[in-house]
Amino acid sequence: MQKTMRTRTIALCAALSVLAVTGCGRKHAAKTSKNAMTAADSAAAASKLPYAMKEGKRLYNHYCGVCHGESGDGAGQYYGLTPAPANFTDKTFMKSLSDETLYKAINEGSVSVGKSNMCPPWGNSFNPEEIEFIVGYIKTFQGS
Ligand code: HEC
Repeated sequence: MQKTMRTRTIALCAALSVLAVTGCGRKHAAKTSKNAMTAADSAAAASKLPYAMKEGKRLYNHYCGVCHGESGDGAGQYYGLTPAPANFTDKTFMKSLSDETLYKAINEGSVSVGKSNMCPPWGNSFNPEEIEFIVGYIKTFQGS
């Protein structure tokens, strides 16, 4: 009982702050996802990103890019995975997943949202806020 309530509260907070995060992340996504950028451009752009986006990006590149690709297209160095890692640049696919589903998939692994067990659960590696940052960040790959 205690535990369920706590989980609910966390989930609710997560949902709310994800909205906040993605709300202010949109503008930046539109700005930064256009064409290929030079390292200097991207460093300059990164310095303008709000903290949540910067953290989301840093964590994503460190933990997820190897499979999902740094540009989110599902083509990381770890290729040949079956099924292929989710392609976050695919608008239709991304629109089909709610923020709660993304959060859950990351927190508890892809198996928790009815997919394969190929995406590990990350709940022990990140705190809830960090998972929200990552959710906000992976949503920017689809453009606006
Ligand atoms: C070892 C490779 C690997 C790593 C590392 C990895 N993933 Fe995945 N991920 C996958 C694969 C493979 C799938 C596709 C699973 C499927 O469709 O059954 C997937 C699917 C997903 C999905 C989609 C779930 C859905 O509902 O379809 C999300 C969201 C996701 N990963 C987020 C992340 C995040 C965020 C990280 C980093 C914290 C991460 N993944 C790290 C391999 C990986």
